[in-house]
Amino acid sequence: MKRSLTTNTARTRPISYSLLSIVALVRPHTGAFIIALVSLAIGSGINLVFPEIIRRALRPEALPFLEQNLVPILLGLAGLFVGQGIVFFLRSYLFGVIGHRVYTDLRKRLFEAVLAKDTRFFDRNRSGDLAARINSDAALVQEAVAVKLSVIVRYGLQVVCGVVLMTWMSWRLTIAIVCSVLVIVGVSSFFIKGLKTASRRYQGDLARLTSFAAEVFSGSKIVRALGATEQVSRRYATMNGDVLAAGRKRALISASFSSGASMLLNLLLLGVLWYGVSLVFGQSLPLNELAAFVLYGAIVAVSFSFLVSAYAEVSQSLGGLERVFELLEQQEQVSEPSADGEGQGRPSSVRVDFSGVSFSYPDRADHVVLSDFSCELLPGRVTALVGPSGAGKSSVVQLLLRLYEKSGGEIRLDGTRLEKISEAELRHLVAWVPQEPQLFSMSIYENLMLGNDEILRDETLKTVSGWDFMDFIEPLEHGIDTMIGEHGALLSGGQRQRIAIARALLRKPALLVLDEATSGLDSHTEASVMKVVRHHIPSATILVISHRLSTVRDADSIYVINEGRVFESGTHDSLSARQGLYREYVAKQALG
Ligand SMILES: Nc1ncnc2c1ncn2[C@@H]1O[C@H](COP(=O)(O)OP(=O)(O)O)[C@@H](O)[C@H]1O
Ligand SMILES: [Mg+2]
Repeated sequence: MKRSLTTNTARTRPISYSLLSIVALVRPHTGAFIIALVSLAIGSGINLVFPEIIRRALRPEALPFLEQNLVPILLGLAGLFVGQGIVFFLRSYLFGVIGHRVYTDLRKRLFEAVLAKDTRFFDRNRSGDLAARINSDAALVQEAVAVKLSVIVRYGLQVVCGVVLMTWMSWRLTIAIVCSVLVIVGVSSFFIKGLKTASRRYQGDLARLTSFAAEVFSGSKIVRALGATEQVSRRYATMNGDVLAAGRKRALISASFSSGASMLLNLLLLGVLWYGVSLVFGQSLPLNELAAFVLYGAIVAVSFSFLVSAYAEVSQSLGGLERVFELLEQQEQVSEPSADGEGQGRPSSVRVDFSGVSFSYPDRADHVVLSDFSCELLPGRVTALVGPSGAGKSSVVQLLLRLYEKSGGEIRLDGTRLEKISEAELRHLVAWVPQEPQLFSMSIYENLMLGNDEILRDETLKTVSGWDFMDFIEPLEHGIDTMIGEHGALLSGGQRQRIAIARALLRKPALLVLDEATSGLDSHTEASVMKVVRHHIPSATILVISHRLSTVRDADSIYVINEGRVFESGTHDSLSARQGLYREYVAKQALG
């Protein structure tokens, strides 16, 4: 059972750290951010002016002045409202845009970070999971930046300024308010922690659900053919129920939190009003001051309750943010040597030596896949690996491609240890065609161009049209520009394999690895592929893996592999002459 990352690294960081991380994300957009903050400050400032206006207007001696200047005063107020509208617009628009920019940056960084992970990472995490996380977690961060950050700053500002103005009017009343608010803050921090955990849980469950659906849809035909539709639906329903439970828990915490906070605040305000009225009766506070004070109190209380719920929601986003940083932080396992010797033209061949190589997959360390494995692949020659399924043939290739690190022994390319060769150089040298070709929902031409973007279109068309095994393209309505669907679903398995082989060949690799890459082809087409291979890259080193006799018969040397070891090696003729595994195979296939 694959475990998601989210559950095994559930360390929580202090909220301040996460908030700082959000601020760091915003840094590239400092200019716009400052303008947004200034508009926000002006808008909120205007809000705070009104109680002061009321305080002045309600003084008994101000009434005649009011009466004489009613129109200019009203016009002034109207101007203030219009100004406030403008700065509010600026504020919302800029925060929105900044949010989208952060989202875009983050998606790009996440995509690249995930792509750079080592192979183990992809063994452990489902691809749908990762794809969902790139979107949904980054979206939470966007929301935090675009909406919540602005809300927090706005109401934070109103709370602070309101309190200052209130203190100026009556410090006794203010102290009463502040003390009660501190109590609420204490209670809140407890809730916020719970919310953060609940949100992480929810996001994780949702991502798993999404990836399960993606996986099922991509294998929909098999699911139907197996008659497993109902079974799969049940499983989906169970997982869906988990998401609901997590969502419910989150909603419960969130609701108790915000309702509790605003209820407490209102009660508090009532208490303050009571106290204020008694001050008025005791003649130590004028009525108009109390009116303004209560208005400020209301602004502060409302702002504070918004602040608290925004903070709660931000801490939900922080759950997403933590997962985002987890993805960005995880280190690659395969060490990357400094790139050297690049761009010096492609060598047309390379000699490969495996000597005494041993290997286990990191996730199944007790299971020895290769032990004391040795072989040599010579330039201009076709070398074949044969052996039963599970013998370790594909693992040999994975090591050669450095998708995994071997546990012992040595692999050398032209005498240089594999570890000394940079990733870029290695990818330059080797072209690999696995049994299940990876094609993407683009045109045939675009699929052929992956990794081949320096080749011109005309050249490609000319080359490919000269290859017999690619003749299936011509009758297609759009020829080489035909769109082939998700994973190449609109083509047959054999056609997909042929495109993958052509894509590898176009790169003119020094080493071509065909790992059961012709399994879906008839022997005639397969022969045509091998002919093109020999002709197109005559001096390259070719490694062919197959359990079909016809594929290996013509190889220059054959290694027979069983249980991670080389049992015997030689040519078809020499091996057939010997009383060994190979001869058994030949006999079986001849019978078959
Ligand atoms: N990603 C992986 N993680 C763990 N074990 C694996 C992985 N891939 C293959 N194996 C195991 O390694 C062994 C050799 O597999 P492989 O090299 O694919 O065999 P072959 O290509 O000869 O059929 C098998 O026992 C298989 O279960
Ligand atoms: Mg294999």
